[in-house]
Amino acid sequence: MSNKHFLTLLDFSPEALRGLIARAIELKQWQKEGRIFEPLKNRVLAMVFEKSSTRTRVSFETGMAQLGGHAMFLSPRDTQIGRGEPIEDSARVMSRMVDAIMIRTFEHEKIKRFAEFSRAPVINALTDEYHPCQLLADMQTWFEHRGDIRGATVAFIGDGNNMCHSYINAARQFDFHLQIAAPEGYLPDADILAAAGDRITLTHDPMEAARKADLVVTDVWASMGQEEEQREREKAFNGYQVNAELMAQADKDALFMHCLPAHRGEEVTADVIDGPQSVVWDEAENRLHAQKVLLETLLTV
Ligand code: CP
Ligand code: NVA
Repeated sequence: MSNKHFLTLLDFSPEALRGLIARAIELKQWQKEGRIFEPLKNRVLAMVFEKSSTRTRVSFETGMAQLGGHAMFLSPRDTQIGRGEPIEDSARVMSRMVDAIMIRTFEHEKIKRFAEFSRAPVINALTDEYHPCQLLADMQTWFEHRGDIRGATVAFIGDGNNMCHSYINAARQFDFHLQIAAPEGYLPDADILAAAGDRITLTHDPMEAARKADLVVTDVWASMGQEEEQREREKAFNGYQVNAELMAQADKDALFMHCLPAHRGEEVTADVIDGPQSVVWDEAENRLHAQKVLLETLLTV
């Protein structure tokens, strides 16, 4: 059994990531043609969710079924993880039974620790610091609509959060320029930023970040676990909304992406997310196709 994990985009080489995107486009086509492809027969994915999810759960569970395998939903409410069983012990036990483990949790350290003690591949399905699976879907969506992203300009408007960090890693791995606009106090992690070097520019001015961008991306202002900060964040992010005025700064053919769930009227206006430049539904669908390839890669290659 392979012991390769997918905790951040840096776990795969740029070539492997590009190959994964190409394969995702192919598997999507196969699925649309009704072709049966079941390389994961009798294989089991455990899915540990310590935070809510719609897209991630539905895509992983559907993906495993389409690949001929099985997915098992585990919540802390009804497992011993929620009662304080050490993460190391949970990793040792679960990975002796299942073939891969997907985890959505809070601290990134926790998934790293789990992976260290797991015999089976571990997939990061979102931590406070990163959301790499979402970036596979975002990149697939870009490649489908526009071709290679190398050399493009991407604007990330809003919180320097898990999505922003994964965009920074994507800029490194896929070789594009990323213009981030975030308010003081909500900047991305300095080390993650520094490691990406001059591929990234950081500003407090959303209009400047959006200028001539080929892709405009945003995310919620208060992530899961930050619900009590909602009001204070609404104040801090005032002026960071992706609206028609901001989109007008970007290239006229710019696309708009959002990992969802979105709050219309907060980080994005309805006319943008429901408008002609938005590809959010393809982006959401591609979670399924990209993660099927991730599972195929981790479990069969
Ligand atoms: N984008 C995303 O990860 O959505 P869910 O929280 O619904 O899984
Ligand atoms: N930044 C968001 C992403 C949700 C998919 C969160 O962590 O809640």
